Amino acid sequence: MQQTKIAGIGMYVPAHIVTNNDLKEFMDTSDEWIQERTGIKERRYAHRTEETTTSMGIKAAAIALQRAGITAQEVDFIIFATLSPDYYFPGCGVLLQREMKMKEIGALDIRNQCSGFIYALSVADQFIKTGMYKNILLVASEKHSFGLDFSTRGRNISVIFGDGAGAVVLQPTQKQGILSTHLHSDGSAAEVLAMFNPGTHANHWLDEKLASFDDAEMGQMFMSHAMIDNAENFPNMDGPAVFKKAIIKFPEVIMEALEKNNLQPTDINLLIPHQANLRIAQFVQQKLQLKDEQVFNNIEKYGNTTAASIPIALCEAWEAGKIKEGDLICLAAFGSGFTWGSALLRW
Ligand code: UT7
Repeated sequence: MQQTKIAGIGMYVPAHIVTNNDLKEFMDTSDEWIQERTGIKERRYAHRTEETTTSMGIKAAAIALQRAGITAQEVDFIIFATLSPDYYFPGCGVLLQREMKMKEIGALDIRNQCSGFIYALSVADQFIKTGMYKNILLVASEKHSFGLDFSTRGRNISVIFGDGAGAVVLQPTQKQGILSTHLHSDGSAAEVLAMFNPGTHANHWLDEKLASFDDAEMGQMFMSHAMIDNAENFPNMDGPAVFKKAIIKFPEVIMEALEKNNLQPTDINLLIPHQANLRIAQFVQQKLQLKDEQVFNNIEKYGNTTAASIPIALCEAWEAGKIKEGDLICLAAFGSGFTWGSALLRW
């Protein structure tokens, strides 16, 4: 059976650099706190009106297509992963299809947050392996800066996130390519890292601490003043709870991929973990006893770009000549849902 290869890769980050000290204008934080707890020094913010999640994705996609040697019209399926879409619906996939003047091909939107790229890669892999599609464009893009609480109330989250996009073109290969993908979820922690509103839950799943509106507001359940007052239109996170789970699940899902392919941590040429927190990546490195040159991190420059973080890091590593033909590359992610996953590929 044929396998799936990454035939082209691209990335785009906005020009506007926001340092940790810049954030002190809005909230009570410090460069020391952010660097010590997360490793982040700066992140990029998209232009408020001229850049969107889709438009950044298009820029990354154009590079990936050019490197794969195909045109937008030759793409036969789109997968778009994001948690910060331009519209509540429809998803960014169709906006990309329209703006890139593609044929009337399928466009699938993936909502798996930090694991979005791995989930999307796994879906693409199945479509390529079965022979259904030959040129899949996978785009992962986030415009977090538009939806963060920049007051001190939201500082545990807003200092982490940044904007950017990554894209890959996936094609069939007779060589090894993607060896395996591994996907997991645990919805018992759905509210640990979530943005509750706007949503249609009507407080059904939320405990009193999190639920904001009362009967008088039933007419405006989708979005109410109380929701805004309670910052429910912003992401909500129990950071330490996410951290504790992440440092268990990252090594576990990486080992799952290695064991499936009868490989060892020493066989990995480059691990590209989702850029959630440098401390998490360091913990994973230590746990698997990986050398520094076996792990690629760029969170210090871009923060956490959620679905886009792995393709951005993969692209930078490739551009820097850190990935050579035949290398064993491991991708792994953990985040909201909880969802997590890994992918092992032979470049
Ligand atoms: O990619 C999505 C998945 N997300 C993650 O993987 C995130 C995982 N979690 C983390 O990365 C960390 O939990 C954080 C970086 C979010 C937070 O670091 P922490 O070491 O877990 O800090 P904490 O939340 O326990 O907060 C410690 C203190 C608190 O103050 P008190 O209560 O001890 O007085 C916070 O209010 O740090 C305070 N704090 C801040 N101080 C300065 C929280 N955010 C900030 C901030 N600047 N930005």
